[in-house]
Amino acid sequence: MKGIILLGPPGAGKGTQAKRISSEFGIPQISTGDMLREAVRDRTPMGLMAKGFMDSGDLVPDNVVVGIVKDRLSAADCNTGFILDGFPRTIPQAEALQTATFELGKQIDIVISLDVDQKELMTRLCGRRTCNKCGSMYHVTFNPSRVEGKCDQCGGALIQRDDDREETIQARLVNYKKSTEPLVMFYGNSGKLKSVMASGSIDAITAEISGLIRSV
Ligand code: AP5
Ligand code: MG
Ligand code: ZN
Repeated sequence: MKGIILLGPPGAGKGTQAKRISSEFGIPQISTGDMLREAVRDRTPMGLMAKGFMDSGDLVPDNVVVGIVKDRLSAADCNTGFILDGFPRTIPQAEALQTATFELGKQIDIVISLDVDQKELMTRLCGRRTCNKCGSMYHVTFNPSRVEGKCDQCGGALIQRDDDREETIQARLVNYKKSTEPLVMFYGNSGKLKSVMASGSIDAITAEISGLIRSV
């Protein structure tokens, strides 16, 4: 069992790396951002409620995300491990996660913090493209698809996320500093925190993360 948290600001590469770690270790990626976007797309009551927060770059209320993560963690495929991407994002979420893992007989083994220069985050997010069919991630300059606008994996159309506009990105970065960065201290105190310099080659970063996971 490996319970892994990927921590890091918007654009740090949580999704990119979580997908790779998920397939390497055969454990599910639990991305609250992806689950919320799915709910928005399907116009579920939760999606309709969350959309306003997401479009303005604000965090969705803790009780909503805690609820979806608890449900997801209790599914059978999480028994061999899981990688959390974008959760927890506040101290109350981290505390709720502690309670939930305890109740489910699971645990967090390692928290990996992805560190990237603030300026690079903006460039990464402005150029990000996502496949609307399979969710594969690209960047117009750093990680382009072979055919412009088309997914290498499935041929789906590459689209830009609604919240990847400059002013929304600014708001997301401010919210990260205010609400999420305190988690670095929170997990630092627990002795489970490892930091990775997450600029440079995507493959090299994956190798480093994977080595850290194997060592716990
Ligand atoms: P979420 O979807 O989690 O967005 P985020 O945290 O802002 O992070 P991103 O997904 O933007 O970045 P990432 O770190 O995954 O980077 P990526 O791999 O894509 O959340 C969205 C919203 O949902 C929130 O604002 C909030 O409203 C709500 N929400 C979600 N979870 C919540 C929670 N727990 N509580 C409350 N609200 C919540 O990479 C970015 C780009 O960089 C890509 O183009 C990629 O190709 C490129 N790239 C990746 N690695 C590299 C590299 N090494 N070099 C160059 N380019 C790279
Ligand atoms: Mg992401
Ligand atoms: Zn695709």
